[in-house]
Amino acid sequence: MIHIVDNVKSTNSLLSDFLSIGDSVLAIKQSEGRGRRGNTWSSDSGGFYFSFTSSNNRLLPFIVGISVVESLVNIKDDIKLKWPNDIILNGKKLGGILCENYGDYTITGIGLNVSNNILLSDAINLHDINYKIDSLDFISIFEVNFTDNFNLSSENILEKYAKLDFLMGKNIVWNQGSGVVESIDIDGSLMVKTSKEIVHLYSEEVHIEKY
Ligand code: BTN
Repeated sequence: MIHIVDNVKSTNSLLSDFLSIGDSVLAIKQSEGRGRRGNTWSSDSGGFYFSFTSSNNRLLPFIVGISVVESLVNIKDDIKLKWPNDIILNGKKLGGILCENYGDYTITGIGLNVSNNILLSDAINLHDINYKIDSLDFISIFEVNFTDNFNLSSENILEKYAKLDFLMGKNIVWNQGSGVVESIDIDGSLMVKTSKEIVHLYSEEVHIEKY
């Protein structure tokens, strides 16, 4: 069941505090929107803030990212996914995905810049490219795409992701090194070729500083 709320601290927190499996929350705005790595997620009205529950899957951020992109039907501009969980439009951040594990299930939050004010120069919203979405229509399409993608094999998910991968072939710098992105491994790690070897980066451990 979708719960539509006006103002909430965070749709992820509301789901974890009060609601049960199968529930989802759409908020008009959030007062304490959260991003990955303890970041805040700016959540004025005009943005899209949605959380839902699902079973766990180690490739969940990729499944959700692919499903979001597929649900932005007929979008003409360049849309990509940046490991581990960013949605990139024309090279700028359009949105992000926050997957939080609660035992046997995961709460996933999706934030998208739609017509909300953008504060950062490396961010963009759908309004900037004249693309309109209706939140509830978007959710219905997303739910169909998500169910289909959730049932794919890991290999097929990664195949789809590779076509949308923003970092593939790019030289990146992270907190402990640098190298060229090769691909994503079956465990969700980013495989990077450094001057010496292929290394696996795990999203909980590294922060990409330049790309
Ligand atoms: C990120 O890029 O760091 C992830 C951002 C995730 C933001 C969404 S908005 C809906 C849900 N509720 C939150 O507090 N965060 C997620």
